[in-house]
Amino acid sequence: MKEILQKLEEKREAARRGGGERRIKAQHEKGKLAARERLEILLDAESFEEWDMFMEHRCADFGMESQSIPGDGVVIGHGTINGRLVFVFSQDFTVFGGSLSEAHAEKICKVMDQAMRVGAPVIGLNDSGGARIQEGVASLGGYAEVFQRNVLASGVVPQISMIMGPCAGGAVYSPAMTDFIFMVKGSAYMFVTGPEVVRTVTHENVTHEELGGAMTHSSKSGVADGAFENDIEALHSMRELVDFLPASNREPPPERPCEDDPARAESSLDKLIPAEPNQPYDMKEVILNVVDEGDFFELQPDYARNIVTGFARMQGSTVGVVANQPMVLAGCLDISSSIKAARFVRFCDCFNIPIVTFVDVPGFLPGTAQEYGGIIKHGAKLLFAYAEATVPKITVITRKAYGGAYDVMSSKHLRGDVNYAWPSAEIAVMGPKGAVEIIFRQDAGDEEKIAERTEHYREKFANPFVAAARGYIDDVIMPHSTRMRVCRSLAMLKNKELDNPWKKHENMPL
Ligand code: HXC
Repeated sequence: MKEILQKLEEKREAARRGGGERRIKAQHEKGKLAARERLEILLDAESFEEWDMFMEHRCADFGMESQSIPGDGVVIGHGTINGRLVFVFSQDFTVFGGSLSEAHAEKICKVMDQAMRVGAPVIGLNDSGGARIQEGVASLGGYAEVFQRNVLASGVVPQISMIMGPCAGGAVYSPAMTDFIFMVKGSAYMFVTGPEVVRTVTHENVTHEELGGAMTHSSKSGVADGAFENDIEALHSMRELVDFLPASNREPPPERPCEDDPARAESSLDKLIPAEPNQPYDMKEVILNVVDEGDFFELQPDYARNIVTGFARMQGSTVGVVANQPMVLAGCLDISSSIKAARFVRFCDCFNIPIVTFVDVPGFLPGTAQEYGGIIKHGAKLLFAYAEATVPKITVITRKAYGGAYDVMSSKHLRGDVNYAWPSAEIAVMGPKGAVEIIFRQDAGDEEKIAERTEHYREKFANPFVAAARGYIDDVIMPHSTRMRVCRSLAMLKNKELDNPWKKHENMPL
């Protein structure tokens, strides 16, 4: 018996060695951790239960019959993050470059299937040279099996991708269909075709990092939700993100004890809005002052910065925050910000997370770039996302809510549950100056008359009371009381029930 036990230990040891010392050292020299080292940081100590450690590929071509490494380049199983169950797969670049074989894909599918059955997130740590070249179409089939599961799991369990090495070609599409993507600066890249092909086809000279590195995708393309300095920072951040998420669409958002008084008054907010309507202020100040302990997990902080999205807690329970940012493009909605916020709103709605929206929006960004780029369709995405969302929706208009953008930003008319305005709110079809220039065109050139009419328009419409008189605003609140009012409304909405009409699925403007 002792011998048998020893044999098991030896087999385990062989699997743990992966591609061997030399390749692990090469991985470290690139600033990357090995697959199991990453899981040690991601998961609670001693919580990892590994599966399929002895799985091997079945390829007998190109000399592969004599090269087999137990585990076949991916470590899978389940563990906990701060005590809550998650399923994981971590590709091992030291084994055939982490490339995906039929067996490797079967392992990934196994955790995805189990995660769906028990209702827990799937976190994939990607570090792979792509399809296992020696296996050909069997590998492509493996990718497609994973893709199919990504789609079926979407909206059922949170799926999160960490890109910690190469991720190229069709392999990018599995992470692309997951809910969030984190990337590591310097070592991770994602692209459909690499720099060599780009050079041949379009004659552009770009590096891997420029074409598909963490900063490219977190600031230019919007593919990634966060860029991190190294593996350790990325993994610690992932633990923070998971703390905010429900385990599945069958669960309410997680709750944790809250030390922060829900009635905490924040007097600094009473002085935040500048006297001059065109002067910016930082909307993040509002968010940080209102949420529990100033703890805000921002997503896509470097992309479409005219809108802010992220998770926070109110009275210990997760909320999704969406906020226009007057510091960037005056807080206008444009193509990128509409898509960014729409996807976030839909994530929250899938997973029962209430949405708190802070509004200061002068309208949609004008220009040919926006129109030719399809702002009509992309802006409609955000409108669509808010309108279909059935989770509790609370809106606070801090200053401008002009035109169509007023309607879009979780207005009462889109089934906003509680809509507040600060006394500084201006809810109108457009800004007073623009309005007067249109309705009193005959006065153009008469500066004095225009100024007088503008002032009159401002007095009449640039306030929250016209909307409040119609019930579009439930109350005009003091800025310092925002936290208390939002907490109370969220508590009131705890058992909210609202269903959309039956349909196979909607046909949102993609
Ligand atoms: C089999 C692979 C492999 C692959 C790397 N390796 N990629 N083995 N299939 N796809 C092996 C290498 O042979 C090497 O083995 C080890 O992994 C490490 O690779 P290196 O090249 O030494 O590492 P590095 O210099 O860091 O370069 C990494 C790399 C490069 C940029 C990823 O390996 C590379 O270009 N690989 C091929 C990428 C590719 O064309 N993949 C298929 C794309 S098509 P040894 O034994 O020497 O350590 C695709 C389609 C997916 O993925 C479709 C989905 C629908």
